[in-house]
Amino acid sequence: MNVTAIIESILEEYALPWNGMHGIIHWGRVLENGLRLAKASGGDLEVVTLFALFHDSRRINEGRDPGHGSRGALLAEQFRGAHFELSDKSFELLQYACTWHTDEVNHEDITVQCCWDADRLDLGRVGMSPNRRFLNTAAAKSDDILNWAHGRAAMAFIPECVQSLCERIEVRAATTDVG
Ligand SMILES: [Fe+2]
Ligand SMILES: [Fe+2]
Repeated sequence: MNVTAIIESILEEYALPWNGMHGIIHWGRVLENGLRLAKASGGDLEVVTLFALFHDSRRINEGRDPGHGSRGALLAEQFRGAHFELSDKSFELLQYACTWHTDEVNHEDITVQCCWDADRLDLGRVGMSPNRRFLNTAAAKSDDILNWAHGRAAMAFIPECVQSLCERIEVRAATTDVG
């Protein structure tokens, strides 16, 4: 799976600033949170990766934006086969995780749990701390992972998978300033 290529394709129609509160830096941290949680808990690595890329991909504002999860799920459906392959069973989990990530708190499936926890561990970017009551996995509730993820969110850490895209934003901004 080519994460950068998928992000680039999503960005072609992303409605908000790339480096905004719900933009690519958030996606990158959710991705790395999700992989860490899935490795510790036995979740599906591909599903958590795709959840990170699609769950906020169809936002139209940085607020509550009802329905953005199902719009993200629909985009994932459109990309399936062309940009990534996934079994029906895994795709069903991805769809569920995207659609309900802001409306539901708990789920019985470990992969869906990892997806939602990965997103919630990134609340530090908006000055909030993750609340263990809203986390599902033991891994996300552990001091080790919670403090690691929260620290990165609070310091606006830029994960490697989105670094080159962030550099492109800077170049664009600099070009605009000059011109
Ligand atoms: Fe969201
Ligand atoms: Fe999110």
